Amino acid sequence: MITPEKEEQEKEKEYIVKSENEEEQEEVEIIKSENEEREKVENVEPEKEKCKESAFSKTPIPKELAGQPSRRYIEDYDLRSLLGKGGFGTVYLAKHKATGEKVAVKALHKQGIKKERAAKSVILEKNILKLAKRNQNPFLVGLFASFRSEHHVCLVTDYCAGGDLSTYLKENPLPRERVVFYSGCVVLGLQFLHQHNIIHRDIKPENILLDSDGYAKITDYGVAKRTLSYGNTTWSKGGTCYYMAPEMIKEIGYTKSVDWWAFGIMIYRMLTAKYPFNGSDRAILKHNITENQPQFPDTMSEDSIDIIERLLNKNPEMRLGSTDEDAEDVKKCSFYKDIDFDALAKKQIEPPYIPKKKTTGCFRRIFCRRKKRIAMTEEGCEEPLNLFPEVFKNFECSLFLPSDI
Ligand SMILES: Nc1ncnc2c1ncn2[C@@H]1O[C@H](COP(=O)(O)OP(=O)(O)OP(=O)(O)O)[C@@H](O)[C@H]1O
Ligand SMILES: [Mg+2]
Repeated sequence: MITPEKEEQEKEKEYIVKSENEEEQEEVEIIKSENEEREKVENVEPEKEKCKESAFSKTPIPKELAGQPSRRYIEDYDLRSLLGKGGFGTVYLAKHKATGEKVAVKALHKQGIKKERAAKSVILEKNILKLAKRNQNPFLVGLFASFRSEHHVCLVTDYCAGGDLSTYLKENPLPRERVVFYSGCVVLGLQFLHQHNIIHRDIKPENILLDSDGYAKITDYGVAKRTLSYGNTTWSKGGTCYYMAPEMIKEIGYTKSVDWWAFGIMIYRMLTAKYPFNGSDRAILKHNITENQPQFPDTMSEDSIDIIERLLNKNPEMRLGSTDEDAEDVKKCSFYKDIDFDALAKKQIEPPYIPKKKTTGCFRRIFCRRKKRIAMTEEGCEEPLNLFPEVFKNFECSLFLPSDI
């Protein structure tokens, strides 16, 4: 049996290129957003920030940001503790020295970005973080800054003090009220992403964070996919095996409805602390996902079974959320009968649980206990790498909102 721990180690991030065409489409989208950035950095003034210019931070500062506290250099942050280590990055809790703001620094080692394709995924991740922040969507983690250091590409995001949902799930299911509330937040976050033609592709409790007020936010757009239009079909594989929809496994093309499948697996897991599909190896797991039906515990309520069964419909066209109504259909389920989504969107519903002030559940305690200054790992680095200069041309960003300036 593949345990959740083993899954953590084996986290599968598959990038199988199925269609040259699709690659080209993605490039068009990225070039589009790069151009948008270029427009914004027109009329730049000479660099006025305090820190020494790094060889990897050459993007000029837009005029309106001159005089703002620097965010674009690793020296601008005090790294405090380790928040998480994923398949791609190491995430640190850090304090922005100039403002005292707590942030999360996701450091991606440049050694792991050897292919242009991986480089473009990082750009997309940054662009989605930026989109989320600009729109101030309460259910998506947003960008604070992005920059390159000698050996890393860093994405700095708003810190979520409650940690990720998997830390609350280790042995026990979550109370139903919390599952309804957190999944309701995810419905609103997914709605926003889908409206912007973004398929997240890695919805799972590890990628859902709780902010200090107790609201849930989607994070980790590292395997997200941008499509050309709302219902577009796409082929390349990406995500975590336990949460992969049957049509993705079968490689027959898929749409944004793979996110609703993963969302169904996540609700099942939160309510039971188990996976609906398991297997002693990856092939058996994939067989179970494509061929078998989930079993529900006797104690599970009818409306929980109803929403999970409809989300785990193996036919993507019949799956809940697959129509143009997308999230609106999901909101109508009786599972959400007690949630007023308009009030939730305005954060007017009181969260069922407020994270404790000193949450260390998600920290590696060893770092907290020793109060040791930590530094980013630099194993394997001899020479600083200058990655795909064209792809990373406008990467450096300090995202101040108009209200900050
Ligand atoms: N903004 C944040 N606030 C608090 N914790 C965070 C934040 N961002 C990330 N984390 C923690 O770090 C973990 C890894 O982050 P993230 O998922 O972005 O990295 P990843 O390398 O893409 O992960 P994976 O490959 O496991 O999906 C999260 O599961 C969470 O526990
Ligand atoms: Mg993750």
